[in-house]
Amino acid sequence: MSSTLITGITELITNDPDTEVPPDPALIVTDGRVSWIGSADRAPAADTALPAEGTVLPAFVDSHSHLVFDGDRSVEFTARMIGARYDGGGIATTVEATRAATDERLRALVEARVAEMRRQGTGVVEIKSGYGLNTPDELRSLRIAAEFTSEVTFLGAHVVPVEYRSDRAGYVDFVIGEMLQRAAEYARWIDVFCEPNSPHAFTGEESREILLAGRAAGLELRVHGNQLGHGPGAQLAVELDAASVDHCTYLSDADIDALVGSATVATVLPGVEFSTHSPYPDARKLIDSGVTVAIASDCNPGTCYSTSIPFMISLAVREMGMTPTEAVWAATRGSALSLRRDDLGVIKVGSPAELTVLDAPNHLHLAYRPGVPLARRLL
Ligand code: NIG
Ligand code: FE
Repeated sequence: MSSTLITGITELITNDPDTEVPPDPALIVTDGRVSWIGSADRAPAADTALPAEGTVLPAFVDSHSHLVFDGDRSVEFTARMIGARYDGGGIATTVEATRAATDERLRALVEARVAEMRRQGTGVVEIKSGYGLNTPDELRSLRIAAEFTSEVTFLGAHVVPVEYRSDRAGYVDFVIGEMLQRAAEYARWIDVFCEPNSPHAFTGEESREILLAGRAAGLELRVHGNQLGHGPGAQLAVELDAASVDHCTYLSDADIDALVGSATVATVLPGVEFSTHSPYPDARKLIDSGVTVAIASDCNPGTCYSTSIPFMISLAVREMGMTPTEAVWAATRGSALSLRRDDLGVIKVGSPAELTVLDAPNHLHLAYRPGVPLARRLL
């Protein structure tokens, strides 16, 4: 057994209403778990001491990312900044590049992106497939993702690939047939880009069929919904008890009413609005209505090529009406709940020592000092 005493904590955020935080708090981590929380002057002996010298909080949980891809779409981003619109069509470019990459190259790309996340304070990350869109390339995307996380999501229904463009129904059958059965070996989750406003993505009815097939194959549900305009995604997610509906850029009052009191978390992805020049969702209204809100990166080559949760927190505060306290909660506990992981996004005795430290006296600095690399993993 090896134990570490963490002191020098200027602020401790636990997200646990039952854990009392004393002045000058300290904690002990024993064999990867938090084993004691209390006042530094009462701390029991430990094998090593680690001065945090800053704010300690649960590691960010990034509940939405598409890290398995090759290729570059910086030109597409640049065109959007001067007026081009995003409709999901660029995904085909990434599919082509991803199919052409070797396994070694894809693995190295994912490894570098996960490392980049960890350097900025992220702990557990969810990783989706969705740039293979044929059986071998979806399966290897899932296999590679599974090397880095247990939160693996099958997104064979990302868009209809070019070779199926004149046979949408054929592609849906293909996804929920052979591809899904094999994907279920690696994935915990199934996701679908439910977006009737894009000719490339899936309608509400197609999405329902795909999600129900995924559930029958043993997968749990997540939904990309309401990204490009009003649509059925959020209400479908609630109806099917999906763990999360992600984007939520365009929500009607009826969508919000459906989310209130449901077990479906609304995950906002502020980097997407930033990178696609679309309006930011009103997270203030969601929170005030009683909806559970999470923040994630959506790191992907099309709509947001950023791994930085601190950046997402800054945007959520500046553009979505969230307080820094709410945004930090959403990027830790909210995001954990969107993965139905009660063990994450919290610091209490017994929880895994997924800890992040900010080089700042309190968490307000995350939004107050945007773009400054304040966050890093502790331990
Ligand atoms: O979450 N909206 C669908 N999928 C991704 C974007 C994928 C891409 O453009 O490469 C998203 O925004
Ligand atoms: Fe996404």
